[in-house]
Formats: sequence, C-alpha cells, structure tokens
Amino acid sequence: MSNYHIKHLEEYFQVYRKSVRDPEAFWEEIAEEHFVWRKKWDRVLSWDFSKPEVKWFEGARLNITENCLDRHLPTRGNKTAILFEPNDPKEEAQHITYRQLHEKVCRMSNVLKEQGVSKGDRVCIYLPMIPELAIALLACARIGAIHSVVFAGFSSQALATRINDCDCKLVITSDGSYRGGKTLNLKSIVDSALEACPGVQTVLVAKRTGEAIDMMKGRDLWLEPLMYKAYADYVAEVMDAEDPLFILYTSGSTGRPKGMVHTIGGYMVYTAYTFKNIFQYREQDVYWCTADIGWITGHSYIVYGPLANGATSVMFEGVPSYPDHGRFWEVVAKHKVNQFYTAPTAIRALAKESLKFVEQYDLSSLKVLGSVGEPINEEAWHWYNNNIGKGKSPIVDTWWQTETGGIMISPIPYVTPTTPTYATLPFIGVQPALMDEEGKEIKGNLVDGRLCIKFPWPSMARTIWGDHQRYRDTYFSAYENKYFTGDGALRDAVGYYRITGRVDDVIIVSGHNLGTAPIEDSINEHPAVAESAIVGFPHDVKGNALYGFVILKETGEGRDRDNLRKEINQQIAEQIGPIAKLDKIQFVSGLPKTRSGKIMRRILRKIASRDVADLGDISTLLNPEVVQEIQENVL
Ligand code: WT7
Repeated sequence: MSNYHIKHLEEYFQVYRKSVRDPEAFWEEIAEEHFVWRKKWDRVLSWDFSKPEVKWFEGARLNITENCLDRHLPTRGNKTAILFEPNDPKEEAQHITYRQLHEKVCRMSNVLKEQGVSKGDRVCIYLPMIPELAIALLACARIGAIHSVVFAGFSSQALATRINDCDCKLVITSDGSYRGGKTLNLKSIVDSALEACPGVQTVLVAKRTGEAIDMMKGRDLWLEPLMYKAYADYVAEVMDAEDPLFILYTSGSTGRPKGMVHTIGGYMVYTAYTFKNIFQYREQDVYWCTADIGWITGHSYIVYGPLANGATSVMFEGVPSYPDHGRFWEVVAKHKVNQFYTAPTAIRALAKESLKFVEQYDLSSLKVLGSVGEPINEEAWHWYNNNIGKGKSPIVDTWWQTETGGIMISPIPYVTPTTPTYATLPFIGVQPALMDEEGKEIKGNLVDGRLCIKFPWPSMARTIWGDHQRYRDTYFSAYENKYFTGDGALRDAVGYYRITGRVDDVIIVSGHNLGTAPIEDSINEHPAVAESAIVGFPHDVKGNALYGFVILKETGEGRDRDNLRKEINQQIAEQIGPIAKLDKIQFVSGLPKTRSGKIMRRILRKIASRDVADLGDISTLLNPEVVQEIQENVL
C-alpha cells in the first residue's frame, strides 16, 4: 500500500524522504493505487526547467470527471457531493448527491456539445457561487474543453481581456448574483464585455435572481431548458494526462494577466493527495472551503481535490457578514462542518466583531481549521485557534499559489506540531530552496531568502497561455534550474518555513493577488494623470491596502482633488474590479527615481507605511528632493 494517508510525524518524514529520493517511484505508486486511468503512462516524469518543460504521467489516458464522479457512483451514489448553502439563510440548502451531480454534469456536457464546443476549445465561465459553477467546470472537463473561470467580481473590461486572451467561443454566466444584501446584474457585465469579444458565439445563462435581462437573439440561451432537454448521460472524452484542464488568470508585472495553464493528470493526483492529508478528510466528514471557485483555491479545494476523494464539499454563495457576522459559524453549526478553510482577511474582519456572534453556535464538529492566501498574523491566528478551534483543532496555514496548483508548504493536522505564523514543513514531494541575492542557495537553518522550488511537483502550471517565453522569464530565469515563487521566506531552527511576503511587485490585498502594473496603467489612463506608482501599506483587516502616488498633468492641476480621487477609483473599478481600488491617493510633483529611471518603490513603501526611521541611501536618486515633499504630505 502506498502512503496515501499520513497519520504521524515519523511517517511524514519517512514518506517525505522517499518522495525526494525517488519521486517517480513515489508518485507512480500514488497515481496507480488511488485513481482510475483508461491507460497507464509510458513515463512518470520528464522535465527540464531551462525550457521549461515538465510532463507528468506522459502517455496516460483518463478523464478527471470519471475520478471525481463516475467511480464514486457504486459506493457513494447517495452521498452528498456538493452541499450548496445559499446567500439568504432562509433559502433552503441543497444537497446534491454524487449521482445527481453526475447527471447534471452529463446534461451540461451534452448542452456544450450541442452548442458546438469540442475538445480543446476554451469556455469562459463567469458565474456566482451557485451549483452551476461547479457543474460547468466538470462539464468542460468531461468533454475535454478547457475552462477559464473569471471571478464574478471582475469588471467587464477585465472579463473581455481574459475572454480574448484565450479565444473563448462560449461564455457561461447567470442573470445575476446575490452577495449579502446586494444583487448584481452579471449578464449586463457580460453584455458590455462581449462588445469587445467578436469570437464569442454563444452565451449560456443560468437563472439565479430572476431579474429582467437582455437576451441577444442568436447568441444568448437560457441554460435550464437546454439542460432539461439534454440526455442525462455522457461518455467522458478520453484525454491525455498532459492535455490542458483549465486556464486561470493571475496578475503579473505587466498589464496583461497571465493565463496559467494546468494539465489534467498531475493536477488531479496532487490536489487529491494534498486534500486528503492536509484536511485529514474521513468518509463521513463535511468539508467547507469559503473561497470562490473563481480563484485557484476553489478549483483545487472546493471542486477537484474534494470530489476526487468522494468528499462532501460545501459551496457557499454568501459573505461572512450577511445577515450578520455570525454567518460562517451558523453554517458550521448547521451542517456540522468538520474542516473549515478560509482566509486571514476574513478572520481579521470577524475578530473585530463581538464574540457573541461566535458563542451562540455549537462549533464542536470542527476538527481542522485552514488558512490561505496571505501570511496569517499572530493575533488572527490566536483568535482563530482560541475562539473557533477552542484550542483543539489544529490550524493548517497553507502556502501555495495559482501557479503551483496545490498546497506546497503546510502542516498536516494532528501530525505536524503547529507554530503561529509558520506554514511549517514542505508537503510530500515538495523541495523548497531559499536563495540569496547572488543566486546561491542558502543551506542550513535560521536563514532567510527568496523562496524557490527546485524539483517539479505534479500540479505545477505548465505554461502561460499563448506566451511560453513569459512563463520562462517570470518563473525560471531569476535562478537557474529553479522555479521562483516571488515570495520571501525564512527557515527556523527546526526547519519550519515562515512566508514573509512578496518580494516582487505583487501586493496581496484581502488575500487577492494584485499586480501593481495593471493598476498603474489604469490610473495613467485618466486624462488628468501624468504618472503614478502604487505600493502596499499595512491594514488591520485587509492585510495590505493600496496607496497611490499620482503626478498630475498641468491640465489636471486646477481640479478638485477629492473628485479626482473618486474618478481614479471609479476607473480602476471599471477596468479591473472594485478589489483594486486605492485606499489613499496622494498627489505629488515627482516620484523618487534611480538614475536609470526606475521608480524606487522601496522608499514609497516606507513612506506609505510611516516607517521612515531609515529610508536608506537616497543620495543616489535622480531627484532626492521629492522624497521630503512626499514625506511632508503623507496621508
Ligand atoms: C500568493 C499566491 C493559493 C491560493 C490563494 C492565493 C500568498 C498564499 C499564503 C500563506 C503566506 C501566502 C503568497 C503567494 N500566500 N498563501 N499561507 N502564507 N502567504 O493564490 O492569488 O496565486 O497568490 O499568495 O504571496 O505567492 P494567488
């Protein structure tokens, strides 16, 4: 038997050593014993980080939905696969069994086929957290189409960019969405996006809010009647292990988002194996990840990982503050949730509210608490541990990325002793390295550096859609023969890792990964703006908030500053989404630059964070005089 389910620390070390000594033998055993394949691989792994090229289970044939659905039917047909908890607590929860989910996925597969979608085509999914979202992912996977989910909080322009980048021919959306007390008209956002997307032939519309929307003849179709008419079975397309499963966009250092491409076989094996161990999932458990499926966390740990293990996965439509700040805990108590996985920003927001929102609910079902998306600060960790876990549910602080596909550094609960703010040990098969600025690996303990991974793992992204060179430049050129994460980390005396934050131009706001470049591009498009720079500064709920330094054109000088601030934020909300709005905007006469013209963000970051005791050497700047001006007017 392979070590599919790790139960104590000695076993972790033993399995870890095995996975590093002979990765191919290790992953082959896991893949062989726990998944169904139509054909086995010819080769477990081939790789070359200089290209970069990575292939896992080459030559193998499978369909991931047979692993997530069909194989469970004989033993778990009546078990709840997806437990849908609506935005409004008065609306009844839906228990969708494996058999029902299988049927719905088959029906939607037939609908997609009838609309002319075939293997390899890209389908854009722009849906709120309703069951159709999970069904749409799986239906694409079943017919071999590549899904590209765009988080339904993105603006129409951001949606259009993503639709065009990978040439989606079909979009799946809904009339509207509920988020707390608000109703959003999603279809109108799609309509305006599609004005710029000539390649989209069909829009399938799920009904959620029932509000009046425009349906364009010849393009837009209601999903429900098509599902109803469609045949309830669909023979899964047999795919290659290295065929793309999905594209998911993440922001980068230029305005263009990066379409990370994940492939089927390795992604399936790794997300399933990490899910089983990092949440210690047992057959009768109810597991809840509060993320949106629009992000990688939802792809890997609401849909694919849990379903590949035959788990019951809660899908929550709402927000933690509606109808009040007790909602998360009400849902935990109501469905007797055993594993609860959320983001530090949500924990910090709830920790500000009265404890009565927690205390009125029975949380005794909880066994494991998870955290993801950004470093969890010590205070939030203790609040979570004391008030939610009552000191008895281990917290798994899981570090990973859209690019890594699955969790990379994390405790295994009840196995790895936890330490607040530490993601602790690399997961099985993960080989981290800390690098110094000269490109040398820093060995030993009690050190810090830039976090790299030096050996392939099965769920790593294979490329950036349509731009392999950018994939190489972004992740494989900073350090030879290593994947560079963009994060800094330290390793303590016992070898535990603590992620210290981004070392590049990405800022994590409320757990959302935001590149500075696309936001600056958007600000600079404002007619009154000449140039801008944004940095992050500490915020007690969001982790980081955005601070913009803006130089106005002469024509903008006379304008009312508060109006300008509103207009700039309005523009960012339209072009990117409300999550990218700036908390503070300071108008400046110049930005500190090096002699080669590079903006010294380090200085701006310190000023914005009011950490000005030591600004470092500013004498080499092209324009040291602006530093004082900026400092004097800091907001
Ligand atoms: C970046 C990746 C992976 C799902 C959600 C985010 C930061 C993520 C942690 C953690 C410290 C973390 C990193 C990483 N991050 N988890 N447990 N501790 N930092 O995915 O949007 O691709 O962002 O989020 O900076 O590089 P993403």
